This record gives sequence, C-alpha cells and structure tokens, in this order.
Amino acid sequence: MTSRGRFITLEGGEGAGKSTQVKALAEALRDRGIDVLVTREPGGSEGAEKIRELLLAGPEERWGARAEALLFAAARADHVEKTIAPALEAGRWVVSDRFVDSSLAYQGGAGGLGIEAVREINAFGIGQCFPDRTLVLALPEGGARARARDNEESDRIGGRPEGYHQKVDLAFRLLAAEEPDRVRLVDASGRADEVTRCLVEAVADMLP
Ligand code: TYD
Repeated sequence: MTSRGRFITLEGGEGAGKSTQVKALAEALRDRGIDVLVTREPGGSEGAEKIRELLLAGPEERWGARAEALLFAAARADHVEKTIAPALEAGRWVVSDRFVDSSLAYQGGAGGLGIEAVREINAFGIGQCFPDRTLVLALPEGGARARARDNEESDRIGGRPEGYHQKVDLAFRLLAAEEPDRVRLVDASGRADEVTRCLVEAVADMLP
C-alpha cells in the first residue's frame, strides 16, 4: 500500500518572492527523489480557476467580505477534492502556493471577519485535508509592500491599502505563534538560494 504523501503550503504577504520559492522548494524535494505536485490558490482545479477570476478581477465592491471569504472557501473545497486529496492518496507530495492560512490572514485577520469565523467556514470545505507544514515567507516590515506597490498589475486584493496588508502580515505572525509545529516563519529577505535552503531546513524532519 502506498503511504499518503505530505502536504506543504507556502504563505506570505505580497512581494516576498513566493512564486519563485514554490518552484525552488519543489525542485529541491525532487532532487531528493520525492514525487511533487505543485499547485496554487486561488485555483488549482478547473472550477477553482474560474472562481479565481471572479475573485481577483473587477472592482473592490464586487464582493462583500463574507461572500469573498465563502468564494475562497468554495474554490478551496474543489481544489482539495479534485487535485490535492487524490495526489496525496497516490503518495505524491503536494506543494501549494497559498492555502487556508491565506484566508485566515486576509479575510479573517485583515478583512475584519475574524480568524475563527474564517477557520470554521473553511473546515467544512477542507475536511481532513490540512497542511502538514506551512511555511510563511516573512519580510522585515515595509519591504513587501514597497515592492508590491511598484507592481502596477495589482489585482482586486493585492491593490488594497497599506493598512490592510499590514494586518495580513500581523495575522500570519499570529498564526505562526499559535501553531509553531505546523506554521514556520522563514526570513525571505536574504538571497533566493539562501531562502530556499531555509525552506528545506523547515521540512527536514519530514524528508524520507
Ligand atoms: P496571486 O496572483 O496568486 O498573488 P500572490 O502572488 O501574492 O500569491 O493572487 C492571490 C491574491 O488573493 C493575493 O492578493 C492573496 C489573495 N488571497 C486571499 O485574499 N485569500 C485567500 O484565501 C487566498 C488563497 C488568496
């Protein structure tokens, strides 16, 4: 019987180099002989990619805070059912660019719904499929936003005011403090290869 794969999620605010690090971490795991599936949120399945368009395009007022949180949770439920759970059951490792902790930090912490309320609606969608390890790329205060502000392609959520993103960063730190076994803060301010080394170190106890 194949044993279940491991589920690792990468998190963080805007502009911490997450997309680059997701690829680099997957490569580092593959170098160790692990079969890795890389995926992302919002998205990662056909239906969830459709919901992604609804969430990230259009004006701020398209969705209220509750509808937005429920749409992220709905996309996540589909992503789990269609993509993540089957891969884990087949023994593959899954590395996801964002997952439930993004909802806890953005919609819960910054969006005003509260982390607990958002945890509850997501628990219904996720079931038992919780990350084994969550790596939060953290930049010294201000750095992330300075970089993201330069990026004119900001979407409906990335383009929110500075205060919103400060609350996101704070919420991620709170989540790491609450669940130190699962959620690890990784300093994202160094050289890319150095950050990747720290990410691998943060999953070292799980490696075969
Ligand atoms: P994306 O283009 O994937 O940005 P990034 O490169 O920062 O990951 O857009 C995702 C945006 O959606 C990003 O601003 C974070 C936000 N988001 C939430 O607010 N809640 C969530 O649950 C998820 C998964 C993402």
